Amino acid sequence: MSGKVLTVAVIGYGARGNIYTNYMKELGTLRPVCVCELIEKKRELAAKKFSLGKEALFEDENEFFAERRADVLLIATPDRAHYRHAIKGLDLGYDLLLEKPISPDEKECRAICALAQEKKRKVSVCHVLRYAPFYRKIREIIASGELGEPVTISQTENVGYWHQAHSFIRGNWRNSKESSCMILQKCCHDLDIIRWLMEVRCKKVSSFGSLLYFDRAHAPEGSADFCYRCKLEKECPYDAIAFYTGKPDSLTSTGRYFGEKATKEEVRACLSDESNPYARCVFRCDNDVVDHQVVNLLFEGGKTAQLTMTAFSKDFKRTIKVHLTGGEIVGDIAANSIEYTAWGKDTVKIDVTKLADDLSHHCGGDKLLVRDFYDYICGNPSGKGLTAVENSLESHLMAFAAERSRLNGGIPVDIGE
Ligand SMILES: NC(=O)c1ccc[n+]([C@@H]2O[C@H](COP(=O)([O-])OP(=O)(O)OC[C@H]3O[C@@H](n4cnc5c(N)ncnc54)[C@H](O)[C@@H]3O)[C@@H](O)[C@H]2O)c1
Repeated sequence: MSGKVLTVAVIGYGARGNIYTNYMKELGTLRPVCVCELIEKKRELAAKKFSLGKEALFEDENEFFAERRADVLLIATPDRAHYRHAIKGLDLGYDLLLEKPISPDEKECRAICALAQEKKRKVSVCHVLRYAPFYRKIREIIASGELGEPVTISQTENVGYWHQAHSFIRGNWRNSKESSCMILQKCCHDLDIIRWLMEVRCKKVSSFGSLLYFDRAHAPEGSADFCYRCKLEKECPYDAIAFYTGKPDSLTSTGRYFGEKATKEEVRACLSDESNPYARCVFRCDNDVVDHQVVNLLFEGGKTAQLTMTAFSKDFKRTIKVHLTGGEIVGDIAANSIEYTAWGKDTVKIDVTKLADDLSHHCGGDKLLVRDFYDYICGNPSGKGLTAVENSLESHLMAFAAERSRLNGGIPVDIGE
């Protein structure tokens, strides 16, 4: 550890709050000193991890925000709470590390940005992929000029059929009224990366997409409302019990959503509880977010990009192709592979695993974002502030425009300043 220590107030100690604070602890220069969290068990975990007394733990956000309690504020609460917590934090004079999306509402995003400017506070949005060595390398190749200038980019967000089922059909981000529309929730990262690599502003957007498959009309004949009493369990790829007790390609097979140490029997018992959202048939949920969407983007200077988001993929990964005037770059983030070719020359292959020691959590992005947040807040020369809220607002506006276009039959939508 070197450098002065910044104290951190944390609101929302769930999955994301845990990851960032773990990296803070590892770094040593960002020290969580108080936590506001609705769930008692999670508050207790935080207390243990950061040696916090009762006076540093809050269930009620009003008490937590009654005064400023640290140098910076980490906001890792659900999407629809970000605006309220960010405004309260900025009013108290905190600099913020704010989870994405800034807010599901365009006006609220603009208001946070404006208040940060008025109060002269720094706000870093957790667009962690800008820090992932994979995308940094691609940006470095583009910036070198060796391949000329970017003309068009095509990115695919392969959500993964099982990840869609877990997060966007049964889980926390299934319904846009409770969280955000898919193109903002899942793809604000993709749009942000495209904007960053293109190096110029996006002017116009059009988009198509829908919830095509995961609805009651597609429920197989004879299927039941809950997997535990469905006779099609063996042939259904979305069977919750198989998912959560160890289907091979499932992120969720560890049972961590039912307690880290849950046995298969305990998981089965949870999935026989009809109040458990993860016990539901994927064709009979209250989901409304799309399962596929395409976005066309027009940038300054006539440059273009295209994004495809699909639930219908085996893998959970992003792939990208950047076409430049003098060559192309092809990347697969899950394979840690980048290849680039200057016209007439041999293809260069890059093994991304050689670029960093730790590629966990967004391919190394989470850890590097936390590090940079510290330097950015301290004003250290190495602090890049790549995800300052004004940058993130720009790519959020691309997402809002895409959603407006999609809801209006794909008409082109201009992006304002
Ligand atoms: N940067 C990324 O790539 C990325 C990835 C996943 C999630 N996210 C975003 O991170 C945010 C949190 O997601 P998560 O997966 O950690 O969810 P989570 O449900 O695991 O954690 C959220 C926590 O906030 C707590 N909470 C809710 N309202 C609160 C309040 N008023 N006061 C105090 N605590 C409150 C909940 O009890 C929960 O523990 C979401 O906005 C999500 O979209 C970002």
